[in-house]
Amino acid sequence: MSERFVLATHNPAKLREMREILSELGLEVISPEEAGVAVDVEETGTTFAENAMLKAKALCAATGLPAIGDDSGLCVDVLNGGPGVYSARYGGEDITDAQRNNLLLESVKGQGRRDAHFTCSIACAFPDGDTLTAEEHCHGVISYIPLGTGGFGYDPIFNYPPKLKTFAQMTPEEKSEVSHRGKALRAFAEALGAYLSERAWKELEAEKERQPGEADAAPESAEPQTVPEVSEAVPDAPEVVPETPEKSEPVPEAAKNPQTPRTPTHHHHKKKKHKKHH
Ligand code: IMP
Repeated sequence: MSERFVLATHNPAKLREMREILSELGLEVISPEEAGVAVDVEETGTTFAENAMLKAKALCAATGLPAIGDDSGLCVDVLNGGPGVYSARYGGEDITDAQRNNLLLESVKGQGRRDAHFTCSIACAFPDGDTLTAEEHCHGVISYIPLGTGGFGYDPIFNYPPKLKTFAQMTPEEKSEVSHRGKALRAFAEALGAYLSERAWKELEAEKERQPGEADAAPESAEPQTVPEVSEAVPDAPEVVPETPEKSEPVPEAAKNPQTPRTPTHHHHKKKKHKKHH
């Protein structure tokens, strides 16, 4: 049975997006409703990463399933990183995206630099306390006028200089290739794949410890006559059953997963190595 993850969102597009990318790992993603819970987590964190983790942990606690949360927003240099975690509420909750964009254009007017970046944080919390995080950014400049009709939110006023287009002038595929969210999703999927492989490996090792001898003895006792002459040239059984480096010692990261991505991190509960976000 494939492992089920629950995603902290009411947004069908986000659900579809996460489903698509995690289905490549053979994982299932369900909504809070499908998991039979209704959790509305207050985003009280001061960083995107904190908010993403708040959502993931609350949903994990409510469902007993591994849970994923995310948070994203726009940070403008001359606004001291604002609207940041308040991106969705900038100017009040009841104004339209177009009004919010005009408000932002007004507040950066005549300030010189217009550098800005989007950030997307994704967090995953497992019932045993393990956590995983990924965060990515996309740098650009605030345009002078809204341009384009695609996308949502601040897309019409976020110009991505390498393409000389705003996000709203890009196709969804074009945007996803360079956007904070596209990159964070891919980094998260990669980190999750690596984490699950490591966990599967550890479970295999633990299983071997519980049944000493059985796993190791079987291939040797069954094989002798089938490899009489060439036995020296043929690699030993450990090729099939990977050798234990040292009983219950974690396998070095590089040996297991030479392509462990740079940004994502995962933390094992017992080590209490949670990254602090300020
Ligand atoms: P959330 O993470 O989906 O809650 O997004 C927070 C807010 O950040 C949104 O309501 C948007 O205003 C803004 N935002 C995040 N990502 C994007 C994007 O890719 N384009 C435009 N606005 C975005």
